[in-house]
Amino acid sequence: MIKFDEKTRTFFLHGKEVSYLFRVDEYGYLEHLYFGPKAEDDLSYLNAPSFLSFSPTPPGAGGDFSLDTVRQEYGTYGQGDFRIPAFLAVREDGERASRLLYTGHAFTEGGVPNMPHARGGQTLRIDLKDARSSLTVHLFYTVFDDSDVIVRSASVANRGTAHATLLRADAFSVDLFESDVRAVRLVGRHANERMPEETPLGHGSIAVRSSRGASSHQANPFLALLLGNADEERGECYGFGLIYSGSFVLEAERSQTDLIRVRGGIDDTNFSWELAPNEMFFTPQSMISYSKEGLGGLSRTLSRFLRAHVACMEAMRSRPVVCNNWEATYFDFTPPRLLALIDEAAELGIDTFVLDDGWFGSRNSDAEGLGDWFVNEKKLRGGLAPLIARCRERGMTFGIWFEPEMVSEKSELYRAHPDWTVGRSPRAESRNQYVLDFSRPEVVDYLFGAMENILRCGVGYVKWDMNRHLTEFTSEALPAARQGEFSHRYMLGVYALAERLKAAFPDVFFEGCSGGGGRFDAGMLYYFPQIWTSDNTDAFDRARIEWGTSFAYPLSAMSCHVSACPNHQTGRTTPFSSRGDIASLGATGYELDLGKLTEEEKEAVRGQIARYRSIEPLLLFGDAYRLLDPFRGNYFCMEVVSGDRSRAYVVGMTAHAAAADYPRRVRLRGLDPEKRYFVPSLQRSLTGAALQNAGLLLPRAAHDFETWTWLLEAEE
Ligand code: GLA
Repeated sequence: MIKFDEKTRTFFLHGKEVSYLFRVDEYGYLEHLYFGPKAEDDLSYLNAPSFLSFSPTPPGAGGDFSLDTVRQEYGTYGQGDFRIPAFLAVREDGERASRLLYTGHAFTEGGVPNMPHARGGQTLRIDLKDARSSLTVHLFYTVFDDSDVIVRSASVANRGTAHATLLRADAFSVDLFESDVRAVRLVGRHANERMPEETPLGHGSIAVRSSRGASSHQANPFLALLLGNADEERGECYGFGLIYSGSFVLEAERSQTDLIRVRGGIDDTNFSWELAPNEMFFTPQSMISYSKEGLGGLSRTLSRFLRAHVACMEAMRSRPVVCNNWEATYFDFTPPRLLALIDEAAELGIDTFVLDDGWFGSRNSDAEGLGDWFVNEKKLRGGLAPLIARCRERGMTFGIWFEPEMVSEKSELYRAHPDWTVGRSPRAESRNQYVLDFSRPEVVDYLFGAMENILRCGVGYVKWDMNRHLTEFTSEALPAARQGEFSHRYMLGVYALAERLKAAFPDVFFEGCSGGGGRFDAGMLYYFPQIWTSDNTDAFDRARIEWGTSFAYPLSAMSCHVSACPNHQTGRTTPFSSRGDIASLGATGYELDLGKLTEEEKEAVRGQIARYRSIEPLLLFGDAYRLLDPFRGNYFCMEVVSGDRSRAYVVGMTAHAAAADYPRRVRLRGLDPEKRYFVPSLQRSLTGAALQNAGLLLPRAAHDFETWTWLLEAEE
């Protein structure tokens, strides 16, 4: 609920348990007042002017007032605020200074055009006018009765007759009245995505940023700030995220007066946007949240919000249990081999077969064929029809892999349209492929047509991959002055294709992917209910990746497969049961040669699928708790609890079996203290209070990488 107090000119934005307050001050600046637990009071006294030498006063303001020290809602450049601005524009005469002043507000529709966005809530639009140019800025705030996430975005319009260029337009910026914070970021690399990293925030700034044209493996659009002693379970923290999948930045800066400015949006490393008269620019949406239950509470708030307000509707649906042929065959497959795999999958109770890379064009290795989205008849004689027919006979869905954004130099598409490639020759190469210029509508149209032809053949599932990052960042179709728009326009093209395909094929299930989890973000979850979490399926590494991913995303977003050992990425051998248990913390699937499984392993697969189906409601709708941190010790343990707290599913792993080991315990979380839960491993029931306060003993591991699972059900 949003209220405006005319007298104090304060906006009260109330979420489920949080309030976000800002006001219009006597000069017309938007001053941030408060973000935290519910607040109804006039808190304008918090922004007492503080005179500091070397902090200038803007035109028209009184002696002690400086934009350098006042807490603001959207920092500007050049009139005395030396902190990192949220907004930077160049006028036709070259001047870059601006001052944004309030002119009015209105309640409007939420959302942003042509980009993924949150649904529902109540939206406030604040109108600001630049006192030094003809630019107007709108700030949008959406609050939700059922959530402690506040969604913010901005738009900039040129209302004058002269040209202007945006160099930065953040989705949000906020000045928190905090100083003692630690920042938590999710960083990594291919096959090692979303490794949490905690850093104290001293003076100056820290950022998490991707300039790769994708949210990336290396960074993730998520930043948490932990106050004081806050930890996983206790204390106050703030979370910041973006509903965006391209190059981004989230940055926190501690100022001379120990305030923390947090800002974020499109990465401005190579960004500019021309605003001709009457043109308008929209930023992506950001999510800002607060929790007083530590990082764990913050993750649950974000997960619930993403599921309820951002993720596409299919995210609520029961997920396919997939058999993907990639690690079973790589490029080396024949129709008989695939048919055998389909039969074996059906025997085991797998419901979807996914044909991965290598079915199209002249693709027999990663050196060729991307862009030619028609069946490689030499390799797949008879086309897809026999595979689709076999799936149907077996009661299975047929799924297929695409990498729509890419082109190989050795392809018909590249020969026909060399100018459809991003950048000019010589270009940087990566995985022997180039990126298609998705800023061009004709490229998006072409891909839609090509994919549509295949999807019409009876495809029920699509894995949408993206296997290299962008370079050169230019388009043959954009004028010189607009090349800085390329990266964002590329992203808009990707969203446009996803939007069109989803509208045309509402029954097709889409999975996102980018060399594993290289584009694991809220923007993608708007279109794809789940994302291939990582190319690394090693049970030990995967446990860590799932742990880190759960900081910002629901378990239901993670696609997790059981693969062969020695693991193809790490060479490590882990028990088959461990691979199944770790995969069971997300949408479970299989990615190995099922024909090579022993009878015992086949039986295990059947059991894993049955268990997956029984715990699926927990994964889709439950709350996740991180219990034992695999980055801090020998153990991993995560729990997911149903909304009504009647069921809990726990998965744990002992990394290394220890000599002379001794009893260790884990305390469960999220249970109803009064309820009694049956604990199968003890063959008795315990109260939620006992399970949370006293805990359970970890089973002793006889071998490295052994896992355990507990499914606890409350007694009537
Ligand atoms: C990426 C994906 C894999 C597989 C290959 C195919 O690496 O993450 O799962 O689809 O591409 O080339």
